[in-house]
Amino acid sequence: MLFWENSGAMGFHSMLVLVTWVGVMLTAIMAAAAIAYPLALPNCSDSCGDVNIPYPFGTTEGCYRKEESRHFLINCSESSGHPQPTLWNIDVTRISIEGEMDVMMDSSINCYDQSGTPLPTNNELGLQVPSFTVSVTKNKFVAVGCDTYTFLNGTLKDAPFTTGCQSICNDKRQIVNGSCSGIGCCHIDIPEGLTKVRFAAYSYKSHKDVWSFNPCSFAFFIQEDKFSFSLAYLTSLQNNRTFPMVLDWAIGNETCEVARNKGNYICGANSNCSDLKNGSGYRCKCKKGYDGNPYLKDGCQDIDECNVEKKCLEKQICVNEVGSYHCLCIKGYHKVEEVCVPSRSSLTIYLAVGEYIYCMSISYD
Ligand SMILES: *[C@@H]1O[C@H](CO)[C@@H](O)[C@H](O)[C@H]1NC(C)=O
Ligand SMILES: *[C@@H]1O[C@H](CO)[C@@H](O)[C@H](O)[C@H]1NC(C)=O
Ligand SMILES: *[C@@H]1O[C@H](CO)[C@@H](O)[C@H](O)[C@H]1NC(C)=O
Ligand SMILES: *[C@@H]1O[C@H](CO)[C@@H](O)[C@H](O)[C@H]1NC(C)=O
Ligand SMILES: *[C@@H]1O[C@H](CO)[C@@H](O)[C@H](O)[C@H]1NC(C)=O
Ligand SMILES: *[C@@H]1O[C@H](CO)[C@@H](O)[C@H](O)[C@H]1NC(C)=O
Ligand SMILES: *[C@@H]1O[C@H](CO)[C@@H](O)[C@H](O)[C@H]1NC(C)=O
Ligand SMILES: *[C@@H]1O[C@H](CO)[C@@H](O)[C@H](O)[C@H]1NC(C)=O
Repeated sequence: MLFWENSGAMGFHSMLVLVTWVGVMLTAIMAAAAIAYPLALPNCSDSCGDVNIPYPFGTTEGCYRKEESRHFLINCSESSGHPQPTLWNIDVTRISIEGEMDVMMDSSINCYDQSGTPLPTNNELGLQVPSFTVSVTKNKFVAVGCDTYTFLNGTLKDAPFTTGCQSICNDKRQIVNGSCSGIGCCHIDIPEGLTKVRFAAYSYKSHKDVWSFNPCSFAFFIQEDKFSFSLAYLTSLQNNRTFPMVLDWAIGNETCEVARNKGNYICGANSNCSDLKNGSGYRCKCKKGYDGNPYLKDGCQDIDECNVEKKCLEKQICVNEVGSYHCLCIKGYHKVEEVCVPSRSSLTIYLAVGEYIYCMSISYD
């Protein structure tokens, strides 16, 4: 098609699009190279078996953070035949950079023989991880048994505190599978701020009346979504010595601001600091557009949004920037209110004839 029009700077526009597009390719290639974020300090191991060990945790001297009240040393021992991370002798199954740690916590088991004589068991327990707190949202405290009561003791607002629950049943037909509401199983929510935790499972009558289907009392913390009570547990939990639970971790016992003033502050570049409840420290988090380990000096690195998911619309190309991204139109298109529409390419010829300038524009789609 051939026609006359005032084409303005159309030709230049498509030139610009082309140039930018070449620039885009280069940025994309450069960004793709920096994807694996470091988790640990330089020259430090960042895993133990299949568990990631992000700093402030570490497995060897010089690789973890030491605090007066808390050490982040993970013992990565191979004595069981495969690498097993432990903290204060508790098996660790996952450490999240967001401030959680999944562990396998011992349960309190209190068993009797048929005549009511207590068997040697694992009764009174303390939570052996000082200054890592029990997640009140992710865990429940549970007792299982039909001649059972339990105490959960500790310190709350600097004073001793006791709570607990009980379950007394006489016939296994009373048990409702899937329901832990007082028949064969009871649970309590964990009070926020509970420290120096101790707990145990006890029996009123040494299980004499229920021994045939329930010879033991059990008490344990367990990750809420990993527990559904069943009749079989009245006997089988003897074989479950540990249960999955979630601990919370944080840095220090002071706020971001106090830590900054004292020079204790460790959040790295491009990160934000947030205070926990007072006296329980602070956490670091990468700013929006960044990802990685915010507890390392340069741990938060730019996310290549363009590589993560489809961010742009049809006929657009995604351009990563430090901390964000933007979308450009592909060649031959230009933006009209965020959408890319075809640009008409055109060629303008100026023709001077005497005093007149003729302007001819050839457009093609
Ligand atoms: C890491 O180890 C290498 C060789 O083992 C050494 O040359 C380098 O200095 C170490 N870097 C740090 C930060 O310790
Ligand atoms: C924080 O921990 C230090 C060292 O363990 C201790 O001396 C201090 O009293 C603690 N502060 C608070 C507010 O708990
Ligand atoms: C690490 O754990 C192993 C096996 O439980 C134990 O033998 C070793 O003493 C522990 N090391 C430290 C430093 O606690
Ligand atoms: C918990 O407190 C109760 C009441 O004070 C006490 O009888 C019990 O022995 C305590 N249990 C543990 C495990 O500390
Ligand atoms: C409860 O589950 C056990 C197995 O754990 C099963 O033997 C029993 O029949 C179930 N009871 C009911 C009422 O569904
Ligand atoms: C108890 O152990 C058995 C066998 O390992 C496992 O299938 C079950 O899920 C465990 N129960 C709980 C509540 O963790
Ligand atoms: C985190 O950083 C962002 C941007 O740098 C800022 O707007 C926000 O207020 C910060 N949040 C906190 C809790 O410091
Ligand atoms: C700590 O919490 C208590 C109540 O839980 C509150 O009275 C106090 O002001 C808080 N202190 C700080 C420094 O936030």
